[in-house]
Amino acid sequence: MPPVDLTPQVDWEEFLRRFRWAQGEHISFIGPTGSGKTTLARQLLHRRAYVAALATKPRDKTMDGLIRNERFKRIRSWEERPPIIGRNGQRVVLWPEFRRPEDQLNQQYQLSIALREMFVAGGWCVFADELFYLCHTLKLTKLLETYWTQGRSLGLSLVGGTQRPAHVPLFAYDQATHLFFWRDNDETNLRRVSGLGGMSAKEIRAAVTRLPEHHALYVNTRDGEMMITRAPRG
Ligand SMILES: Nc1ncnc2c1ncn2[C@@H]1O[C@H](COP(=O)(O)OP(=O)(O)OP(=O)(O)O)[C@@H](O)[C@H]1O
Ligand SMILES: [Mg+2]
Repeated sequence: MPPVDLTPQVDWEEFLRRFRWAQGEHISFIGPTGSGKTTLARQLLHRRAYVAALATKPRDKTMDGLIRNERFKRIRSWEERPPIIGRNGQRVVLWPEFRRPEDQLNQQYQLSIALREMFVAGGWCVFADELFYLCHTLKLTKLLETYWTQGRSLGLSLVGGTQRPAHVPLFAYDQATHLFFWRDNDETNLRRVSGLGGMSAKEIRAAVTRLPEHHALYVNTRDGEMMITRAPRG
């Protein structure tokens, strides 16, 4: 693996040309709040035909954008999902009602049903942008763990992001084929991500503390390819 200083910086179009994402490979985004995880993640979902975005906040501009601009269908439960016709795929935002605190129980119920159903069906890409919330507040760690560890053979991709890698299961990124890091100086986070993707602790530390704003360090953990890029603002 070349030293990080020699990592090529490529524009977004070039990145997309080089980025190979096979079905069943997981993608993980690690960076502090506001770094650009969600912005970049959204741009990759075009590559998959069956996508379910899990929406967990009462209001969420990203999810609104997927529904408005990218024709994702909002559903409140997996049951509401329209039938799949032909091979055109399906793109849904699963967004259970969340207006009162007690709605969290329904949220947990609906998301776990959907995750179970997709697991049985196989072939889905699950966009889980708020891993901390899904794992801890909704207690879905066990189910998500099954995706991370078994998903590959079932063609299930998990696309997940976190600001706090030390607070989500290690599976959330050590099972990912594709890792994206943003600039981070938090010691706990740095310690947690050190050595991921076959990079030495020193290297990854040097890389993520030096990244320019909104730039991501991409690491392909399968073949060791690395690039630095910046997604368009969207
Ligand atoms: N590549 C970029 N170039 C310029 N601005 C960007 C870029 N990526 C993100 N931004 C801006 O930074 C802000 C935060 O981006 P985004 O929501 O993607 O961050 P995030 O990492 O998902 O944050 P959080 O952890 O809070 O969810 C947005 O206003 C977005 O427009
Ligand atoms: Mg985000």
